[in-house]
Amino acid sequence: MRTLRDIAALREALDDHRRRDQRIALVPTMGNLHDGHLALVAAARRQAEVVVATIFVNPLQFGPNEDLAAYPRTLAEDQAKLEAAGCDLLFAPDSAALYPHGLDHQTQVRVPQVSEGLCGGARPGHFDGVATVVAMLFNLVQPHLACFGEKDYQQLAVIRKMVADLHFPLEIVGVPIVRAEDGLALSSRNGYLSDAERQVAPALYRTLSRARDALEAGEAPEPVLSEANEALRQSGFAPDYLELRARDLGPVTATTREAVLLAAARLGPARLIDNLTLTLPT
Ligand code: PAF
Repeated sequence: MRTLRDIAALREALDDHRRRDQRIALVPTMGNLHDGHLALVAAARRQAEVVVATIFVNPLQFGPNEDLAAYPRTLAEDQAKLEAAGCDLLFAPDSAALYPHGLDHQTQVRVPQVSEGLCGGARPGHFDGVATVVAMLFNLVQPHLACFGEKDYQQLAVIRKMVADLHFPLEIVGVPIVRAEDGLALSSRNGYLSDAERQVAPALYRTLSRARDALEAGEAPEPVLSEANEALRQSGFAPDYLELRARDLGPVTATTREAVLLAAARLGPARLIDNLTLTLPT
């Protein structure tokens, strides 16, 4: 696997694959890779001849009081994992390569509606930063497909809408959440948890699972959600949101059947997110 740091080298390497008519898959990441990321690489590997991963801790998607400086950077370990997973090319630019004129004057992509509320409500500007860097990576790599994890459900919805609205000629592949044995969704931010907090963390998945079962059994959403919120608080979480939405993130109406339950909650220094899809009874 080759690691490339600059745009010219990336373009040159990809031109070579394109000349050979090879199908290219992109796996954008912020590094500190775990088995959830490696599932993205495996999905990409199944569907393309060339797998390009990117590692870039994108400053544009972090708020002023968020964990940009603390975000774990583990390039050597990540390179070894990507190589073992069958990745062909790693693009790992620095901020000056992608944003040579700084962040303040950067052209940005804003995806309306679907970026609002949920994580977009708690993290203003976050999805503009995500959409901007992902659009940039799509332009640089021009992949046939790109893989994203379903853990970041709203992010995936934002990217799907951006691709549709801007007519990017590529397929977006959503890859199911990878969980630890105790149910906790894998995330780089789990590394912020102390041993005691790590013991508590799976309560997020258990609480969502109980709420999903109750909703699928026909219980009224409002009491189910407020009970789940209270259960999270009792376990030691500070919930940011816990919401039931239609799968397209629109509001649930009397006719909605395919829904998703989404939550973000702080536990100690970590902000954890998770979601479960469900089918509401008629
Ligand atoms: O999901 C992530 O790791 C990031 O938001 C992404 C998609 C790589 C954009 O920086």
